[in-house]
Amino acid sequence: MNLQPDFPLKELNTFGIDVKARFFARFENVEELQQLLTLPEVQSLEKLVLGGGSNLLFTKDFEGVVLQNGIRGIELLHENEDEVYIKSGGGEVWHDFVLYALRHNYGGVENLSLIPGTVGAAPLQNIGAYGVELKDVFHELEAVHLQTGRVHLFDNATCRFGYRESVFKNELKGQFVVTAVVFRLSKKHILNTSYGAITTTLQEMQVQQPSIQDVSAAVCHIRQSKLPDPKQIGNAGSFFKNPEIPLQQFEQLKAQYPHLPSYPVSPGAVKVPAGWLIEQCGWKGKVIGNYGVHKNQALVLVNYGGANGGQVRQLAYDIITSVEEKFGIRLHPEVNII
Ligand code: EPU
Repeated sequence: MNLQPDFPLKELNTFGIDVKARFFARFENVEELQQLLTLPEVQSLEKLVLGGGSNLLFTKDFEGVVLQNGIRGIELLHENEDEVYIKSGGGEVWHDFVLYALRHNYGGVENLSLIPGTVGAAPLQNIGAYGVELKDVFHELEAVHLQTGRVHLFDNATCRFGYRESVFKNELKGQFVVTAVVFRLSKKHILNTSYGAITTTLQEMQVQQPSIQDVSAAVCHIRQSKLPDPKQIGNAGSFFKNPEIPLQQFEQLKAQYPHLPSYPVSPGAVKVPAGWLIEQCGWKGKVIGNYGVHKNQALVLVNYGGANGGQVRQLAYDIITSVEEKFGIRLHPEVNII
């Protein structure tokens, strides 16, 4: 857990951007983290906590301290007839946690299979996919306050979860490290297969009565066919959030673009897929030197190798401008740009 100066971050961010941190340290338990937080360099410099590095874009060297969460361990806390409470260290790889749940036949996270990143980073943006969000299975989390080193507990309400949002991306941004998360998983499964592609994929797999393992297999299949594997092509998943627009604006657009997909969110608002808007502006599959927009999913910006973060950020700005000019909708990045 020593501080290492001038530390290369290329292998620690899934975009594969070649930058350095002024200092780097990895901690494997809460006490190690608390000790690190007493060091003068750590106290005086800006701090960035890294999970899997799968939701950020570095545009320059980081002039502070990067702290990597290496807290492992998954344990059953308690259970009743219907549910189990499972605690996972924040440094566990998210998909390893999903595999643990599937192995023990605990339901609730199967739709979140293969999401890159760590358990500790998952609540920050309330990860979600195929009709399920982390908040649906979340019980509570433990987090260390970076300034005082004290451990705080947050329940579902105090995390203030929203679509790809939580209190840790807003009021408490940069103030806490999530060291452990407790999940409430089910023993009596309620499957969520309403998301179109899951039903069709299960049919293609010729599954009649799907288990949570089947749903996970379907989700893995869909993700692998649409989303680039960060181990092969640098990316951070969806670069933008799907925008929410007023119903009136949606109806006007729908009259002009009858194929515009949408999801209702409230009586007066709908969400539209950013991927569709970006594709309509002609960006899908665009290659600019060694970076661009993925060919199967326009929401994903990619680094084919050697691009710098500033170039990718500029591409994101150009996309935002063109979508705004064509549709009057402003896209917002989901990825943390540093
Ligand atoms: N679409 C296009 N062109 C594209 C991409 C999508 O027309 O290039 C259309 C699709 O045809 C479909 C709609 O947009 O009608 C939705 O597409 P998809 O099912 O691929 O989902 P998404 O809305 O683009 C969101 C999440 C993903 C998540 C999927 C599945 C956000 C920002 N993204 O994408 O999350 O996996 O739904 O639930 O909400 C991530 O956060 O990194 C991520 C990958």
